[in-house]
Amino acid sequence: MSVPLPESLSIRYGTHAPNLQAPDAALPVLEQILNHRSVRHFLPDALPEGTLEMLVAAAQSAATSSNLQAWSVVAVEAPERRAQLAELVGQQKHVRQAPLFLAWLADVSRIERLAQYQQQRAEGVQYLDTTLLAVIDAALAAQNAVLAAEALGLGTVYIGGLRNQPEAVAELLGTPAGVFPIFGLVVGRPDPAARPAAIKPRLAQSAVLHRERYQVAQNLEDEIGDFDQRLGAFQAEQGMPASAWSQQVVTRLRDAAALHGRDQLSQSLQRAGLSLR
Ligand SMILES: Cc1cc2nc3c(=O)[nH]c(=O)nc-3n(C[C@H](O)[C@H](O)[C@H](O)COP(=O)(O)O)c2cc1C
Repeated sequence: MSVPLPESLSIRYGTHAPNLQAPDAALPVLEQILNHRSVRHFLPDALPEGTLEMLVAAAQSAATSSNLQAWSVVAVEAPERRAQLAELVGQQKHVRQAPLFLAWLADVSRIERLAQYQQQRAEGVQYLDTTLLAVIDAALAAQNAVLAAEALGLGTVYIGGLRNQPEAVAELLGTPAGVFPIFGLVVGRPDPAARPAAIKPRLAQSAVLHRERYQVAQNLEDEIGDFDQRLGAFQAEQGMPASAWSQQVVTRLRDAAALHGRDQLSQSLQRAGLSLR
């Protein structure tokens, strides 16, 4: 299932694949990272004992801004609660199917409680930078958990749909003021009866990597090269409906309705006590 480094580079980049070598000792980690794929078909089987704690240890090993550790995670395993979440995130069946759903939370509530215990102010919490910091911390932690899960032979898929109805999600998860669910992560054993998830192509490095100064692309060809064709070929291979990536991107963000409720996010964040100031 896992492919060697040169092959994964070639799947990611097609003819734009950089010719990269790595010391043998680095290969297992690099190969695992480059083999990442989101999985959307799971067995319902429970995960081996200790899996959740191992994922959290990996998550807590991520770097964290000023060591504030401004995130938390709610592990949801009860089938009826996963079923409720599956509905709230836009009827995503994998949330119901897999045994574990992790809701990643930007969490400044712990900092506020610490200030209270010490009878101090925590005015910094009322600024956008602290909200961003908590979101960044949670995202870095979650990605470490993804890598750990993949190392354990498990599959994962992030669930941004957790922000579609944040108030209902917060109620289900029981999150207090100062805590905001930013995305979910489904974790489970990939279903061997389903088509295996495939490594998905990415933009050429020239699109994302700028040296010394940002270079603004001048036209579509300059911007994304042959990526529409490469992703189109991937979609055809996977039996997915064909649509040009450059158009998908624009459609996804065309108007407020395309955000599926997330156009209300700033109000929801503020109601949850996370500041945008
Ligand atoms: C923050 C975030 C939210 C996502 N939300 C969803 C989601 O709600 N449902 C889903 O099926 N995939 C979701 N994805 C997965 C992306 O669609 C996927 O990562 C992307 O298409 C690239 O595919 P790959 O992960 O297989 O390389 C999300 C990914 C991220 C990083």
